[in-house]
Amino acid sequence: MSRKTYFNEAAQDWNEKFYTSKLATFLQNFISKIDLKPGQTILDVGTGTGILIPFLLEAIGPTGSITAIDYAEKMVQRSRSKYGNIRNVTIELQDVEELTLPSESFDIIICFGLFPHLENRVQALNQMNRVLKPGGRLLIAHALNSAEIKAHHTLSTAVTHDALPKKDEMKQLLKHTGFSKIVIEDKSGRYLCFSTTH
Ligand SMILES: C[S@@+](CC[C@H](N)C(=O)[O-])C[C@H]1O[C@@H](n2cnc3c(N)ncnc32)[C@H](O)[C@@H]1O
Repeated sequence: MSRKTYFNEAAQDWNEKFYTSKLATFLQNFISKIDLKPGQTILDVGTGTGILIPFLLEAIGPTGSITAIDYAEKMVQRSRSKYGNIRNVTIELQDVEELTLPSESFDIIICFGLFPHLENRVQALNQMNRVLKPGGRLLIAHALNSAEIKAHHTLSTAVTHDALPKKDEMKQLLKHTGFSKIVIEDKSGRYLCFSTTH
């Protein structure tokens, strides 16, 4: 089974399986930590069913905007059914490796739970760099650390081999694709990697 098929099939009961009160608390803390400001433009990559959207909306307020993308049609449908009618939220079917969004249009990109699943990391990072404004921030985040993610991905053969790169490799990848000020925290119950475009 391909990854995309796995995510399409998982969309139906994604929230029931994975959206726990512990995860909601993690997201609340994560959003308060990343210093979002009213009026900012955010790209939520691999939005899935859109679990981050309400937290982001609260932080950026009515003058900000969110574009949420996913390459799995069923995930986009579920996310649209919940958040598709909100004025400053746009939900699109897009593959981050082949983004068609305009260059230099976002203040912040958040990849929550996405990175290990990318086919071509360099292409995805190049695209994200292109659509970020100069000085824009890329936040790669998980509610598990890298070792915990490996164990979690044994739940389907479609994602068994999907893992985060080692710290040094991640730093190299980010530098190579135009990011700097890279900070990585890989601790029990969280993986956070923050970087900035030049
Ligand atoms: C582990 S899920 C996380 C979903 C959501 N962020 C959450 O935490 O509930 C990863 C998501 O990334 C999407 N995805 C994987 N590769 C992608 C790509 N190249 N472009 C866009 N979305 C992708 C999958 O379809 C899936 O919805």
